[in-house]
Amino acid sequence: MPGQHPIYDHIERDARVRAPQRSPSTAGEVIPPPTIPRPAAQSAQPNQTAASDRPIAAGPGFLKRALRRLMPNTKAQPTPARPTPVRNDRSMQKLAAAAHRLWLRRAVAGRPTARAGQANPGAPGQLVDALTATPGEPKLPDEVFPRLHWGGLFLYLGDNEKSVRNLAEAYDGKRGFTVEQPVTVIHANTLGMRLPGVTPKGFAFLARKTQLIQPGDFTERFTYHVELTPCPAGPFAPDGYVVTKRVPTYHDLLQRLRHKFPETDLNDLRKRAHKLVDHVFPTFLTREAAMLGILQNNLDPAFRDKVPKPLGIEKDQRGFVRTLHMKWMRIGGEPISQLDFALQAAELLAALHDQARVMHLDLRMDNMVITPVGVGFVDFGSACRIGEQVSRSPMLGELFGEMMRTSQIQRMLGKMIERGHVTNNAIADVYGKVDKTVDAFYLAVQIAKPHVNPDLRQYIAYDSESDTAKALSALTAAVLRPKNPEMAQYKSATDLVRGLRRIERRVTR
Ligand SMILES: Nc1ncnc2c1ncn2[C@@H]1O[C@H](COP(=O)(O)OP(=O)(O)O)[C@@H](O)[C@H]1O
Ligand SMILES: [Mg+2]
Repeated sequence: MPGQHPIYDHIERDARVRAPQRSPSTAGEVIPPPTIPRPAAQSAQPNQTAASDRPIAAGPGFLKRALRRLMPNTKAQPTPARPTPVRNDRSMQKLAAAAHRLWLRRAVAGRPTARAGQANPGAPGQLVDALTATPGEPKLPDEVFPRLHWGGLFLYLGDNEKSVRNLAEAYDGKRGFTVEQPVTVIHANTLGMRLPGVTPKGFAFLARKTQLIQPGDFTERFTYHVELTPCPAGPFAPDGYVVTKRVPTYHDLLQRLRHKFPETDLNDLRKRAHKLVDHVFPTFLTREAAMLGILQNNLDPAFRDKVPKPLGIEKDQRGFVRTLHMKWMRIGGEPISQLDFALQAAELLAALHDQARVMHLDLRMDNMVITPVGVGFVDFGSACRIGEQVSRSPMLGELFGEMMRTSQIQRMLGKMIERGHVTNNAIADVYGKVDKTVDAFYLAVQIAKPHVNPDLRQYIAYDSESDTAKALSALTAAVLRPKNPEMAQYKSATDLVRGLRRIERRVTR
């Protein structure tokens, strides 16, 4: 691809040696950036484009939807300034139900929801896709944030216009949320009629959790600044959002480094932050954009929806990608069994290695999603092509060298070898190396304890005492500590698939 950053050439050149080309190669190319509007400056102005004012799409349920809209059940209206009397609980619930019908029913159909005053359904720690609150229930952004999935919605309904507006203000582009529907008047009609002064009236707004962590918080789980960005709904953005991954700002990164290394000299941290923001992160994000293009071009169609589809990039003057927009692989769908999780993940990994000739190298549970089409992988920021000689570029050689010394997976592998928990020679040999066996090793570890990522807990049925869980733990043990470490049965993703199929046959017999 002429005119692209040399990093693309590097990935392509080395990979070309061995990678089978499946389709006319535009590998490394990403689809030109769509115009993704910046999040609109949200204001608590009356909502002019409430759901009820939009055209009703034709298709199944058209008549029902059209009738529902004609019935004056719920209607969003510009907010009048008139004060409203305090409501009793019953009418409050009625109003909340009306607001729910207006904004949430379709948006979260089939997804877990809860009242803010009650615990989330399911096991402790399980997250929901929508939370509804009325006065008296927990309603502050910091109380709501930890209970919602990324992209989850918070609906608040109150009777005091001023306090609802104040609360909406606290969510407006702050504390990890974006206000999606500004403060709007909600009526709960009785017998299909609205009687002035009698029909209960409330004020509601809807906010979406668009950040992964709250401003000022620190985590080891993520590195880049990743958020949901609103955009026109379409085939690549069914929910009206795309995922935007950016190089973090110097300021944010320095804060993080100071938090992580409180003892280190500030000037050292400043130098490190500059290097990361100016060179290291843009390099890896540029590579990631290229890898996503390669995956779309080389994976069989069945696997293409299981990795992020690149939708656009923004580069700096040097040609480095600083912002990458991708399709949001939204967590959801029917829960799957632990065995299905393991099988789908291993099959996807085998496709990654054998079809796209790409190794992931950071296959932590945080970089996996479960969507209605099954298990998916995200975060190809550390990925490398099989056959790519990173050491041929001094800069890449140094960066990958450092990554292989410091990544969570490599550190864990080192410790496990030291303690005798990994004796499989094929795995021990790749410690500190850029090699696809690292992926197989880490997947074998993950499938035995799939509940590490809180976002996925309710989507993987896992019972540590079940026969399947025991069989999977035995498989993990066989991968890590085979009877004959020199002639191990399991070395690759395909070997794992084979072992898992065997368990499947046994369990379903
Ligand atoms: N395309 C995507 N679809 C769904 N979730 C995503 C997508 N990209 C990233 N994520 C979520 O955002 C998190 C951080 O993104 P990731 O690419 O892993 O960045 P980092 O390199 O900082 O770890 C992921 O762990 C995942 O939860
Ligand atoms: Mg990640």
